[in-house]
Amino acid sequence: MKLSRLVVLSTALVVTGAIAQQAAEPASPEMPAVVAPVADSGPAKAGDPKAGQTKAGACAACHALDGNATDALYPKLAGQHEQFIWRQLKLFKSGERNNAIMMGMAAPLSEQDMRDIGAYFGTQKVIAGLADESLIAEGPNAGKKFYQVGERIYRGGNSANGVPACAACHGPAGAGVPGPTYPALGGQHASYTAAKLTEFRDGTVWGKDKNANVIMSQVAKGLSDEDIQSLATYLQGLHKAGK
Ligand code: HEC
Ligand code: HEC
Repeated sequence: MKLSRLVVLSTALVVTGAIAQQAAEPASPEMPAVVAPVADSGPAKAGDPKAGQTKAGACAACHALDGNATDALYPKLAGQHEQFIWRQLKLFKSGERNNAIMMGMAAPLSEQDMRDIGAYFGTQKVIAGLADESLIAEGPNAGKKFYQVGERIYRGGNSANGVPACAACHGPAGAGVPGPTYPALGGQHASYTAAKLTEFRDGTVWGKDKNANVIMSQVAKGLSDEDIQSLATYLQGLHKAGK
């Protein structure tokens, strides 16, 4: 018991250090991988998007065949990185990321299926939504638009509350980084982003033991409800310029 508490504490320290370091630097493909890789259970090869397209038929009812789910109940998968989709599917299957629907969907998938499906959605282009224009009603940000406050935190963090700049890992246009699997966030439904940030803030960690990834629970600790709503609406509209 004592030992496991020590291990958790030292992981948290290492990760906080990594966050601080990365927050100071722009995201780049050379960024060191700080996400524990999920144990590889089979002789799977890099995903094949063509094979993945056929296999993704089973996902279309909720996520849409091109991954641009229209119903905000379901996250968009278009433009998401193969490695991220593969990791999440493994975590759903093992129950280390808790969702009953997705546990059922991931159960029959092999390691290769997960990679192929991930590769396929990775080739699709996310269709961003719109950041809504509503104004913050009270508090120090009264009169500002939620997305304006979100943009400030996304780009610069909030050092007073220990929140790092999201862009350091998720990229200036929200496209993420494939290598260390920082997921793409741009264009995602605001309600999904807000729900995940709230769960992270409440201590949810995807993965257990060596699969555990505490980065986001550390990041989200200092976010207020207003911050979360602001980031979520900003991200819903975030996409690469000119496309
Ligand atoms: C019946 C509806 C449904 C179907 C069919 C479905 N999903 Fe999902 N999926 C969901 C829901 C709901 C979530 C959100 C879970 C959560 O809130 O954590 C989700 C989340 C995910 C995520 C995590 C996305 C992220 O950004 O973290 C991935 C990856 C995923 N699904 C892949 C798939 C794949 C691949 C298939 C097909 C094999 C599939 N899903 C089929 C409902 C569905
Ligand atoms: C140090 C790098 C890092 C920073 C900084 C960071 N994130 Fe993350 N984020 C991650 C990683 C890694 C994951 C994937 C978590 C996992 O797989 O367990 C993630 C996941 C997420 C998710 C879930 C995406 C999905 O599709 O399910 C959201 C939403 C998110 N981050 C938002 C943010 C916001 C908003 C900020 C800034 C306040 C931020 N992140 C800062 C690394 C980071």
